[in-house]
Amino acid sequence: MRTPYVCGNWKMNLDRAGARGLAAAIAQHRMRGVDIGLFPPAVYLDEVVRAVAGSNLVVGGQNCCDEQSGAFTGEISAAMLKDVGARVVLLGHSERRHVFGETDELIQRKIQRALADGLHVMLCVGETLAERDGGQTEAVVGRQLTRGLVGVAREALGAVTVAYEPVWAIGTGRTASPSQAADVHRYARGVCSGLYDSAAAAALRILYGGSVKADNAAELLADPDIDGALVGGASLRADHFLPIIDAAQRVSAS
Ligand code: PGA
Repeated sequence: MRTPYVCGNWKMNLDRAGARGLAAAIAQHRMRGVDIGLFPPAVYLDEVVRAVAGSNLVVGGQNCCDEQSGAFTGEISAAMLKDVGARVVLLGHSERRHVFGETDELIQRKIQRALADGLHVMLCVGETLAERDGGQTEAVVGRQLTRGLVGVAREALGAVTVAYEPVWAIGTGRTASPSQAADVHRYARGVCSGLYDSAAAAALRILYGGSVKADNAAELLADPDIDGALVGGASLRADHFLPIIDAAQRVSAS
């Protein structure tokens, strides 16, 4: 049984006080049977790590450099994220792919770097609307997974979570239906089974992301192939995010 995992990707939002207050409110919430991750802006990682100290909340970075250290002005290394208390890093988010032009190859190098430096990785994959309309969803998700996981040994797969986030559903208010999401999740698990084996694929958590809200979380999370949610907009307010955690708890208790 995979423990549900609900994550908040705060993107480039909030200020120091807002980040601290939101993290503290979430840390105080009852979280039985569900893992929670928060991805604040890097400059607030330290603040958020301190705000959630003593809870079992996981804090992560939204990105890292593929290089270990050195003359890379403006970049943040995986080791630095770890040093300030991050345990995981989001890689391959669609905004990194489509706004900042990150390729599968760069994302793969970042994954290698993050794992080597002791972070877990949340690898985001997902198709654009044009790709879905063109019948390319499986090809795109399969390619992003296969290329992203190059060099990830079977023993390291436990440090990887996958997030399926259709680009057309991110920040648009348009959510994939539970069956649309679950179809891709099953496909993605099959790809991982082919790359590794069925036991490794069965242990892998695959989260759904894209306009997850309090009012659609329960039906998405009810599908046995949807192991949690990566939440953007609705993770920025405790009164929007906590009901999503509650929905995951209800699923895990049922
Ligand atoms: P959204 O973002 O929930 O605002 O659609 C999800 C994400 O980008 O991770």
